[in-house]
Amino acid sequence: MDGNGRWATRRYLPRVAGHKRGMDTLRNCVRLCGERGIRVLTVFAFSSENWKRPADEVSSLMDLLAGALGREVSLLQAEGVQLHFVGDRSPLSDKIRAGLVQAEAVTAGNQRLIFNICFNYGGRWDITQAAAALAARGEAITEASMNAAMSLAHVPDPDLLIRTGGERRLSNFLLWQAAYCEFYFSDKLWPEFDAQALDEALADFAQRERRFGRTSEQLAAPESKRAA
Ligand code: FPP
Repeated sequence: MDGNGRWATRRYLPRVAGHKRGMDTLRNCVRLCGERGIRVLTVFAFSSENWKRPADEVSSLMDLLAGALGREVSLLQAEGVQLHFVGDRSPLSDKIRAGLVQAEAVTAGNQRLIFNICFNYGGRWDITQAAAALAARGEAITEASMNAAMSLAHVPDPDLLIRTGGERRLSNFLLWQAAYCEFYFSDKLWPEFDAQALDEALADFAQRERRFGRTSEQLAAPESKRAA
C-alpha cells in the first residue's frame, strides 16, 4: 500500500493524513474484494524496516492500528471477514497485542474473506522464524515443513501481488510465498487505488499465462497428457 506519504505531501498535508486516507482506501478495498469473490487478501501495513521512520510517524501508525482495532472490527464482522495479524508482535504494546488477539478471536468463525494484515512483518523475518522454530523442535528443514512453519501457513500462496505508488520492488514482502505469484505495479498512490484500479489489476491478471515451470504446449494439452 505504497504512496500514502506522497499523496499527503502533494496536498501540503502531514504524512499521517495520507495514512489515514490509506485506511479509508483499505476499508473500501476489503469490501470490493469480498464483492468480487476474492477469498484471501494480504496487505503490508508496517514493515520490519518501518521503525526507521521518524518517531512521530511510527507512533501515528501505531495509533491508527489501535484505533482500527476499536472501530473497524464490527464492520469486518458484518462483512464475514476473518482477520489475521501477521508479523513479530513482541515490540508492540501490551494493549495493542491484546487487541490483536481479541480481533482475531472475534472474527475467527467468518469464512467469506480471509484478511491478513502484515504488521511489523518482513519476508526475511518470516523465513528466519520458520527455520528457527523447526530447528528448536528438531524437525528436518524441507519445503513442506517450512511451508507449515511460515506465518501465512493458513492460506495458499498468493496469485497476484499488487504494489501501488510506482515503485517496482518487493521490499521484503512475502519473499517465500511470492515464488510463483504474478506481479502488478500501479502508478496510482495507495489513497487513490479505487474500484476501477482494482478491476484493472484483476483484468490484467486474468490475461496472464501461469505455467508453473511447464511449457505453453503442455498447458494446452489435456490434463491426462501432462507430465507429473
Ligand atoms: C507506505 O506508504 C505505507 C505505509 C508504510 C503504511 C500503510 C498503512 C495504511 C494504508 C493504513 C492502514 C494501517 C493499518 C494499521 C491497518 P509510504 O508512507 O511509504 O508512502 P510514500 O512512499 O509516498 O512516502
